[in-house]
Amino acid sequence: MKNLILSFIILISTPGMGQSQTFQNGMVVSAHPKASEASIEILKKGGNAMDAAVSVQFVLSVSLPIAGNIGGGGFLVYRSADGNYDALDYRETAPLKASRDMYLDNSGNPVGQLSLYGHLACGVPGTVAGMAEAHNKYGKLSWQEVIQPAITLAENGFELTAAQASELNSNYQKFLKWNPEGTAFTQKNDWKEGDLLVQTELAQTLKLIQKHGSKGFYEGVTAQYIVNEMSKNNGLISLEDLKNYKAIWRKPIVGEYKNYKIISMPPPSSGGIALISLFHSVEDYPLHQYGFQQDKSVQLMVEAQRRIYADRAVHFGDPDFHNVPIEMLLNKENSMKRMKDFSFEQATPSTAVSAGNYSHPESFETTHYNVVDKEGNAVSVTTTLNGAFGSFVVVENAGFLLNNEMDDFSIKPGEPNLYGLTGGEANAIQPGKRMLSSMTPTIVEKDGKLFLVIGTPGGSTIITTVFQTILNLIEFNQNIEEAVAAPRFHHQWLPDEVFVEKGAVPQQVRERLNQKGYKFVSKSPWGWVDGSWGRVDAILINEDGSLSGGADPRGDDTIEAY
Ligand code: DON
Repeated sequence: MKNLILSFIILISTPGMGQSQTFQNGMVVSAHPKASEASIEILKKGGNAMDAAVSVQFVLSVSLPIAGNIGGGGFLVYRSADGNYDALDYRETAPLKASRDMYLDNSGNPVGQLSLYGHLACGVPGTVAGMAEAHNKYGKLSWQEVIQPAITLAENGFELTAAQASELNSNYQKFLKWNPEGTAFTQKNDWKEGDLLVQTELAQTLKLIQKHGSKGFYEGVTAQYIVNEMSKNNGLISLEDLKNYKAIWRKPIVGEYKNYKIISMPPPSSGGIALISLFHSVEDYPLHQYGFQQDKSVQLMVEAQRRIYADRAVHFGDPDFHNVPIEMLLNKENSMKRMKDFSFEQATPSTAVSAGNYSHPESFETTHYNVVDKEGNAVSVTTTLNGAFGSFVVVENAGFLLNNEMDDFSIKPGEPNLYGLTGGEANAIQPGKRMLSSMTPTIVEKDGKLFLVIGTPGGSTIITTVFQTILNLIEFNQNIEEAVAAPRFHHQWLPDEVFVEKGAVPQQVRERLNQKGYKFVSKSPWGWVDGSWGRVDAILINEDGSLSGGADPRGDDTIEAY
């Protein structure tokens, strides 16, 4: 019965598609139907995967205001049809006027929710610079053409989904608090499914970007609107911050698991390294034999997660400011050594686990949606405002939301952030520095050929969600829809709890593992009781080269293909 319900949910969320449909030419999987629809058209008219990806990012800034953005940032991983890799970091930076203790009072305690809401929470946005870089290096169609669908949608409006109407209604007060003059997202009466959301100011901003490229955002009128918004409300972002912002091409993190190659995001995201370390930690155990969410598989995966999140809290930060011991963390021997004190008899308490000692100095290395085009180029992008609707600040006259990414810094050693993650020196605030991320846009090869393009939102749970979804496919014999939909669990070292989604880890398994010292809690790390986390979107490349999609039934995620 449960499977039936699951299949039904999957079918209604991927309009027109049966479970086993495959496609020959191209596919887009994104978190909103309008974005998937617009960019499949870009592919059909001869654009490549990067054109379509840039187009998705801009359409999501209109159709998915909760997370899609031009006022945030993200990471992009690319694999060309001939097997070259690239990674683009368009993460936000701390404004030049930011300082280490900016969220603490005189006694050193965090003040209210300054890093979470309002103008002080905003990092310098990276998205527009990122998209300009991505398009400039790899795009084929004109910049004007790939941005046009977003402009049309902002001008004409689009119909809200039921989930979107309810998200806007439940956040009405917060919008009003930070934008007393009103915004396109607020109206007196409740929003209903099917209501038209028109964003005229955003359309104007997008037109400036269309006309002037990155300068249409970081200089001129838009930059001035951002700075006006900041100076009226004690925010820190200046014209200089905007003019200086640069997206950075970095060397992707590449690691191996059996006959698979994992290509993912380097720091300032912790995602790629943590993901590969998780794979290294479990590779020598017969996971397939243990089975999906059975005692030994859950235990093994939880213990691996506990250890890498301890490392994350200490060793990870912006590589341009902090020496991240990348090679040590990616060394399989090291991951296995960390698993040595693990026993199937008893949980390792998190108090007994601290970050690995990787003091060996290393040189500085200036290091989600998916698209696959008909040549076989693949793009995997995770982008965010951080929390839902970011800082809730909508730039007056410019119509877009600014991020609250500053909360991803460690605002005080040991102080948990929105996702319960802690950190220290490596991720302390410094002017111009990028805050540590968990975003894990990933591409997987099997026997040297493109196999999977995958990623998800979900704060601290991103890494473990990508990890589990890949294992579901390659160790637990699930198809792509099952792998994406399967309920998940998560451990992040601190607090010492195994977070479980509804339906994850059978009750008997939980009871037996409980005897061994594992504490299961039915909530997300940010406290949503019996909630769900992640919206995994994935494209699987079958043996015959055809494409199958997985769109997470937890959201409005949609597959478009031809
Ligand atoms: O960069 C990060 O790790 C977070 N800002 C990601 C936020 C996120 O995934 C929100 N989605 N649930």
